[in-house]
Amino acid sequence: MATSARRSPHRPDHDVADRSLAGAGEDRIDWADAQMPVVAQVRERFARERPLDGLRIAACLHVTAETGNLVRTLRAGGADVWLAAANPLSTQDDVAAALVVADGVAVHARRGADRGTYLRHQHAAASCGGAGPHLTMDDGGDLLALLLDRDLPASPGGPIPTTDLLGGTEETTTGALRLRLLAERGGLTVPVLAVNEADTHRVVENRHGTGQSALDGLLRATNVLLAGRTVVVVGYGSCGRGVAARARGMGAAVIVCEVDPIRALEAKLEGFDVAPALEAAERGDVFVTVTGNRDVLTREHFERMRDGAILANAGHFDVEISLRDLAAAADGPAVEVRPLVERYVVGGRRLHLLAGGRVVNLAAAEGYPASVMDLSFTNQALAVEALVVDRDRFAPGVHRVPPAMDAEMARLKLSSLGIAIDALSPEQERYGRAWS
Ligand code: NAI
Repeated sequence: MATSARRSPHRPDHDVADRSLAGAGEDRIDWADAQMPVVAQVRERFARERPLDGLRIAACLHVTAETGNLVRTLRAGGADVWLAAANPLSTQDDVAAALVVADGVAVHARRGADRGTYLRHQHAAASCGGAGPHLTMDDGGDLLALLLDRDLPASPGGPIPTTDLLGGTEETTTGALRLRLLAERGGLTVPVLAVNEADTHRVVENRHGTGQSALDGLLRATNVLLAGRTVVVVGYGSCGRGVAARARGMGAAVIVCEVDPIRALEAKLEGFDVAPALEAAERGDVFVTVTGNRDVLTREHFERMRDGAILANAGHFDVEISLRDLAAAADGPAVEVRPLVERYVVGGRRLHLLAGGRVVNLAAAEGYPASVMDLSFTNQALAVEALVVDRDRFAPGVHRVPPAMDAEMARLKLSSLGIAIDALSPEQERYGRAWS
């Protein structure tokens, strides 16, 4: 039961939609907890060892039931937590309420918050009640940018103290890239552990989590049958290969578009058709962009697409499908034909844009299944712990999580699935070392 390790509630600063939703939120968090056995193991250890005692943690993550279990784990470890939403569309208001009421977390998040409110929430989380954080947890780099990036316009909420800041974690590829650019400009003065660069994260979350949930969002929004259709996946990175594999598994023919020749070759050898995006534009029924890049599908693609084409984005930002080009190419304004489905008519052909080009698995489905987040959030919790107990080990800059931690996470997950694996004998280890 998730509640065992929780601290007694106090009255944190907060801004949530409706505190009376707390009961429903607790049920939702507990449901996810049942699929997060590895986080639960870490939570029990944290409750015994209290490695985060007295620390202030600012988190900007998707406010969902799975995050609820991570936050409970940080609380069990002794931290005070301020939480804002990485994307207001994914916020579960009942979870936000439960974390405030039952867990004493300072949640600043409301589903659908406008941009001004969203930025105010991020500022509130980053401030940690005015004292500034010891640790940050980011999903897109926003908190650390707010705290450290002098090139950004001054926050309307005023400067936030960074004297106690020990470091942070980053959940996404895009956020890690952004923080590396900040480091190149000399602005990143603390270590950041890029949890998305762990092997466990890449395999479990990016490939299997994004692969399944991006298609889940697409199907919930459209209810189309994928079997017999042609799905174009633009970007064959750690996420794109999951989307391609799942689409094939559902009976679609898949065309992969890439700019990296090695990844394109990999896609071909894995049995996918590979083509330039302009050619694929003429053949696809469904398009999923997942590159982390901008303007991946533009006017020249839209003008070649077939009647009824569906366009979805699974990349972090809503810049992969050029919305400006789509509006410019269309014969008239977009019409919402179903929730989260807008129809544009381009040269007499109907193109359907899902979720306004925002990340489809969050906007049109529920993000990753809890068992995927089990590993990601174990990674987060252990990374935060490492930044405290092993702090001398990490210089300022963006780091991968240590390989031993990565292997330990996979071992814990396997054991939670009841799976044992072999170990090298001492002779085999010696033999391997001799060769390397
Ligand atoms: P990655 O770097 O492993 O793969 C991206 C691939 O896109 C690369 O192979 C690159 O060569 C290719 N690419 C870049 N520009 C292109 C273009 N114009 N045309 C064709 N291919 C192009 O990145 P990863 O981890 O797969 O992430 C991709 C995006 O998805 C990022 O924005 C990331 O933040 C986001 N993401 C989304 C998740 C979700 O839940 N929807 C989860 C994790 C990451």
